[in-house]
Amino acid sequence: MCGIVGYAGQSGNAKEIIIDGLKRLEYRGYDSSGIALISNGKLEVRKRAGRIANLEEMIKDESLNSKMGIGHTRWATHGAPSDINSHPHTNKDGSIAVVHNGILENYVELRQWLIEEHGIEFRSEVDTEVIVHLISIYYDGNLEDAVFKALQRMRGAYAIAAVCQDDPEKIVAFRRNAPLIAGIGRGCNFIASDIPAILRYVKEIYLIENNEMVIVTKDDIKIYDIDRNEVHRDIFHVTWDAESAEKNGYKHFMLKEIHEQPKGLYETLRRRIDDNGMINLDGICLTKEQLENFNRIYIVACGTAYHAGLVGKFAIEKMAQIAVEVEVASEFRYRDPFVDDKTLFIAISQSGETSDTLEALREAKRKGARIISVVNVVGSSVARESDDVFYTWAGPEIAVASTKAYTTQLMSMYIIALYMGITKGTIDKEYYESFMEDLKEIPDKAKKVLQLESMLASLARDLYKNEQIFFIGRGPDAGVSYEGSLKLKEISYINSFAIAAGELKHGTIALIEKDIVVIALATQDKLYEKMLSNIQEVKARGAYVIGMATENNKEIEMQADKVIYIPECRDELTPLLSVIPLQLLAYYIAKERGCDIDKPKNLAKSVTVE
Ligand code: G6P
Repeated sequence: MCGIVGYAGQSGNAKEIIIDGLKRLEYRGYDSSGIALISNGKLEVRKRAGRIANLEEMIKDESLNSKMGIGHTRWATHGAPSDINSHPHTNKDGSIAVVHNGILENYVELRQWLIEEHGIEFRSEVDTEVIVHLISIYYDGNLEDAVFKALQRMRGAYAIAAVCQDDPEKIVAFRRNAPLIAGIGRGCNFIASDIPAILRYVKEIYLIENNEMVIVTKDDIKIYDIDRNEVHRDIFHVTWDAESAEKNGYKHFMLKEIHEQPKGLYETLRRRIDDNGMINLDGICLTKEQLENFNRIYIVACGTAYHAGLVGKFAIEKMAQIAVEVEVASEFRYRDPFVDDKTLFIAISQSGETSDTLEALREAKRKGARIISVVNVVGSSVARESDDVFYTWAGPEIAVASTKAYTTQLMSMYIIALYMGITKGTIDKEYYESFMEDLKEIPDKAKKVLQLESMLASLARDLYKNEQIFFIGRGPDAGVSYEGSLKLKEISYINSFAIAAGELKHGTIALIEKDIVVIALATQDKLYEKMLSNIQEVKARGAYVIGMATENNKEIEMQADKVIYIPECRDELTPLLSVIPLQLLAYYIAKERGCDIDKPKNLAKSVTVE
């Protein structure tokens, strides 16, 4: 996600210090970067799409001697990643620069006001540009006064930092529901969105709270509340090293990302609900007529995203009553699929850059399909080439093994299915409303599932020496079994295989013998008894069975050797919860086996080759 770094000091190397800070935020993911420096009394702004190396290349021959400035890494939300959309943004005469993390919710209204009342000509598509023009309008010789006035008009969750060439000693920053810290140096001070950005220079920081402004000069850091009363803040002493700080204290990015799932689920849902509690696909036009015109839907993706599609199929077929085929992109693109203008093609991709998915999308487009993509990275190739994009709000995913991207993809599929159903009239209002209520409870239930962590870590200690582990499930549980099995094999290198439980008897059961571990998902009320029979089948051959069920289904204890319980929840939605214990189990098994969890061998995060 976006990152902010600011420096006010005595030496003339603000440029180098800020760029170094930005680099330390690279792990968070970004798509462009920029810097604003007060150099020889003038505000100098440089920004570039792409890697920080592009920005460095741009400024490498410029001296830009400066004692203060701000920098930013952007992860696009409003407007594609481009030079012009990168931060910092400046006012009309280029004397004030602002960097911004988060979202200005009322930017459309403020933009309109700035255009109509003040004749502002906007250069970029981003909400941040509104903020700098607003500050500029209120500027009357004192930067913090102007920022305070601008804040009165701004709604949303954000952190901002501003500098001004006419008030050149200070950085003015403000926090509202987005992280911000100030670092206490020797003869210099810092601001940053994250501790790792400045950990090389300072170990003592102030944690800025919501609705607080911080004014940083080379000599001083002052914090004010929203009523402009000065606030006393205790110093926080950082005891971590830079690497563990990036991981927020977690040992691996994968574990951090597993724990970020309640937030990702909440954000993905929240951003699609309007003030009346109804789904708002915001720009994605899917009318009743269009939905009635589709006679088939293809969901096409790779890896974990493909597994999200498998669950999506159940939701869409049930709610929108349109036939859905789910296919891996590398197969779809070469098999001359039956696609025409009555086809809806849904691509799912975390990175939006997976070559097979992109080519499959192009193939479907050539044949006249309508293309909707479910993508995490804004402005990625899949997003750009789709007719419409439904963004997931997982935030940057760093670990190769995908976790939070998967659950936010699932959430997206439910939202899309529900929207299709109510628009097409294939579900009624009562079903829609009760489903929405259940969806809203999912982030809290996901938090509850995370509390199983120590139990799963201990289970992992019992299991890690096994050289093969099977997963079985029915219906949506089969889809989750594939994902659980993929997680396990990709990070622990245990030979793992998942199969629809009813299919076991047609061959795979030949492999089941004494002490073979079978993880059996039985979270579907409708299929529960069938699953108990499948568990008996493998038990009869000597398997050691770990069952998974919802809290009120206790009969499974009679069959399975061990049971993982997830919170009670409607059948359709259990995949959002049941995958989490499987992720944790895979993680702890891999840890016991001493594997390189975030970077498993032979794998890449984004596969841009065929
Ligand atoms: C790679 C990654 C997987 C991912 C798959 C599809 O194989 O290692 O984690 O699921 O690509 O990636 P995408 O970015 O299209 O979701």
